[in-house]
Amino acid sequence: MKRKSKEATPAMENAPVEPGRRRFFGWLWAMIGLAAVAEFCWVGVSFLLARKERSAKAAGARIVTAGSVDTFSPDTVTAIPSGQFFLARLPDGGFLALSRTCTHLGCSIHWDAEKSRFQCPCHGSSFNLAGEVLSAPAPRPLDCYPVRIENGLVKVDVAAPRRRDRFEPDQAARI
Ligand code: FES
Repeated sequence: MKRKSKEATPAMENAPVEPGRRRFFGWLWAMIGLAAVAEFCWVGVSFLLARKERSAKAAGARIVTAGSVDTFSPDTVTAIPSGQFFLARLPDGGFLALSRTCTHLGCSIHWDAEKSRFQCPCHGSSFNLAGEVLSAPAPRPLDCYPVRIENGLVKVDVAAPRRRDRFEPDQAARI
């Protein structure tokens, strides 16, 4: 007696796939494709939202509150470490926020209270209270940051220093 083989015969391999099964796989692939597209969109939206939030936080962090107006006497300079600038109060009461970076080759300057001037330790440049060059090789005044007075507080936007060719009185913020 001949035994029946369980292996597929060539005739079975070439048999057409049942329509119901084909439909099922088509539906399955469509669902997988939709899930992939949805996940891609979700990742994109999450990335954009996180980026927007980071920019907003960064924008808020640009403002440094130096202190109340009364804290700073006219004709004085105060280092503001949190903002990495010097707050100069001019003899007429105006405020200037000056960069700590020398305009020659970028060394950090310091305020010499005895000589009443900013001094650069690298090549000897010096600057007055308003950041103007007193002695070369610095080619231009110290950069400054925008200052505004709000509710009796001195606020400085440290996002980007402003380059200037000379000191102008309107660069200072006044009450
Ligand atoms: S870097 Fe300040 S004088 Fe050269």
